[in-house]
Amino acid sequence: MRVVALHEGLEGSILALPVHGDGGRLMLGAGTRLTKRLIAALLSRGYTRVAIEDALAPDIEPEDAIGEETRLLAERALEESAKKLIARKSPDIGAISLAVETIIADLRKNSKMCSGVYTLRSYDQSTYTHSVNVCVIALAIADSLGWSLGSLKKLGIGALLHDIGKILIPISILNKPGQLTDDEYALMKTHSEKGWELLSGCFEVGPVAAHSALEHHERLDGSGYPRHLKGDEISDIGKITAVADVYEAMTSDRPHRKAIFPEAVYAFMVQKKGILFDGTLVDTLFKRIALYPTGTIVSLWGGYVALVTKQDPRSNFRPYVRIVGGPGITKPVDISLYERPDIKINLLLDDYPPDTKRLIAEALHGTCEE
Ligand SMILES: [Fe+2]
Repeated sequence: MRVVALHEGLEGSILALPVHGDGGRLMLGAGTRLTKRLIAALLSRGYTRVAIEDALAPDIEPEDAIGEETRLLAERALEESAKKLIARKSPDIGAISLAVETIIADLRKNSKMCSGVYTLRSYDQSTYTHSVNVCVIALAIADSLGWSLGSLKKLGIGALLHDIGKILIPISILNKPGQLTDDEYALMKTHSEKGWELLSGCFEVGPVAAHSALEHHERLDGSGYPRHLKGDEISDIGKITAVADVYEAMTSDRPHRKAIFPEAVYAFMVQKKGILFDGTLVDTLFKRIALYPTGTIVSLWGGYVALVTKQDPRSNFRPYVRIVGGPGITKPVDISLYERPDIKINLLLDDYPPDTKRLIAEALHGTCEE
């Protein structure tokens, strides 16, 4: 399989991974052939990427930090809690706790490295993919730092619910494709206080976890919001959620922009250590996260196109790749980027470029695809 940007040209491609809708409900199963109508339906629902079958990569399996069932459990718990909060009832904290405990168990079962998170859908109010990813990343950081199980659970509950205040922000603002006006941005920024108000009143959530909602946009130098807290005025839960939220948001497609190149996000966050973000947390994040999820298409220096085939426990920046196109490439070549430090990753690609597709079609069928 390979992960590609969703567009009309994918008509006829076969889904390699299922597509889930709100609350984790199955929308399209693996094996579904994409039609123009299905592609249009997915695009209109905010999906930006899909995993499709690839004759050059039948052996590539997704490597998620948590199991698919766990992800669905967490999304469902979040959706149910959001519905209850909208109705001014207490969230289903039992379901949220169970989801957090399952995420912690999955992370501990996995290898030490968090092997990539799949964000196939752009962020909006009705989906919870971003919140689940933030929760997974925050827990991976805290677990690496030796937090107790009790503290991890509080962090996980807070991180899962950190953006819950957005249920009170108009969806037209959340999904606006362009730049927000000053007034719209001011309204958007109220989601952290709204989240705090929704959560701090719930006895079962407790004030510690509710700080995740209130403080995830605070920054060490006081430039964040809503209270412009500085340094240790920000709780540990607030600091960890901030680091996880920024990494996840920057490396995901958003309504107004594409995902940012992971090494550019790394450079930005490292540069802002001690200024915006806690340095230890940034360092721990980049020890735990796989920058290039398996199935991603990258371009390499020298004009080569490659697929990420497997994560390498030796380096989360240098996965195994399969070179499928570029100068002198007539058949796929598998290499370890860790063992080839001279080969740099240049960009993330939405799909194979047309030249590569043509070469592949010729190699596979002896004919031109395009
Ligand atoms: Fe937020």
